[in-house]
Amino acid sequence: MEIINRIPRMISIARELRSEKRRIGFVPTMGALHEGHLELCARAREMCDTVIASVFVNPAQFGPNEDFEKYPRDLARDAELAFTKGVDLIFAPALDDIYPEGFSTYVTVEGLGDRLEGASRPGHFRGVTTVVNKLLNIVSPHFAFFGRKDAQQVILIKRMVRDLAMDVEIVVVPIVREEDGLALSSRNVYLSADERKAALVLKRALDRCRTLYNGGERDCSKLISSMRSVIESEPLARLDYLAITDTARLDALDTIPFDQPTLISLAVFLCDTRLIDNIVLNGEI
Ligand SMILES: Nc1ncnc2c1ncn2[C@@H]1O[C@H](COP(=O)(O)OP(=O)(O)OP(=O)(O)O)[C@@H](O)[C@H]1O
Ligand SMILES: [Mg+2]
Repeated sequence: MEIINRIPRMISIARELRSEKRRIGFVPTMGALHEGHLELCARAREMCDTVIASVFVNPAQFGPNEDFEKYPRDLARDAELAFTKGVDLIFAPALDDIYPEGFSTYVTVEGLGDRLEGASRPGHFRGVTTVVNKLLNIVSPHFAFFGRKDAQQVILIKRMVRDLAMDVEIVVVPIVREEDGLALSSRNVYLSADERKAALVLKRALDRCRTLYNGGERDCSKLISSMRSVIESEPLARLDYLAITDTARLDALDTIPFDQPTLISLAVFLCDTRLIDNIVLNGEI
């Protein structure tokens, strides 16, 4: 159990682990760990010999008016939680090690990164794919674990790994939810008690969609308007977007196909806090 801050040390540990034929599992996070992150760590623990989690709040994936400054940070607590769940090493690099003076190289997954989350948060995915690429270069894991809560992120990272022939397997972990259905997120700590109650509207809208789908409804405009009315019934909630898309190109669909995985995703503001959630019908991403 060790917290590693410097890139060269992380690289040399990873090299040594690989030379000992240990399977490295990697869980990238922005810290403020919760049961969702710990589930990724648990999957990594099952599948790998050494589990490395990173904690890095990545400025490149925040917009200028987003919450980079106030994002919750508590490395000591994160390390303790992670180590009790079987994480072997934490990699917590400094900002100017990841983005040294003159940093000018970015990885962009074109097209996919401008849709859904990317349309609402311009530049977000360029920040994500760039930092994930750099972290994977440093840690050189056999497996890297990502949550399906961020479905579009998973789709982009898988595309990056395929397009650039990166030697890592991406493992997707299902969404961990509170007992009442709210998807765990580090940003849930921003919610007031009233907003916390109102936040259930995301899951309620998705449940409505699934119920209609199970009853035979395939018309996306009907599904969307029904979900929209669930969101609109909650006065504290403001819909950002709601989409039914395929999982390869993230194109909006008119009808849900019977033989292709279909992503139902949404983002909702509760006052200033922006939450996302999704379900996948007909398969997995
Ligand atoms: N509820 C969840 N279930 C499964 N995986 C999750 C969950 N929440 C986050 N993750 C995953 O944890 C990893 C790190 O995410 P991150 O540190 O951004 O946490 P977060 O809860 O998504 O925070 P925020 O909502 O502020 O972005 C990502 O792969 C993300 O998909
Ligand atoms: Mg996140």
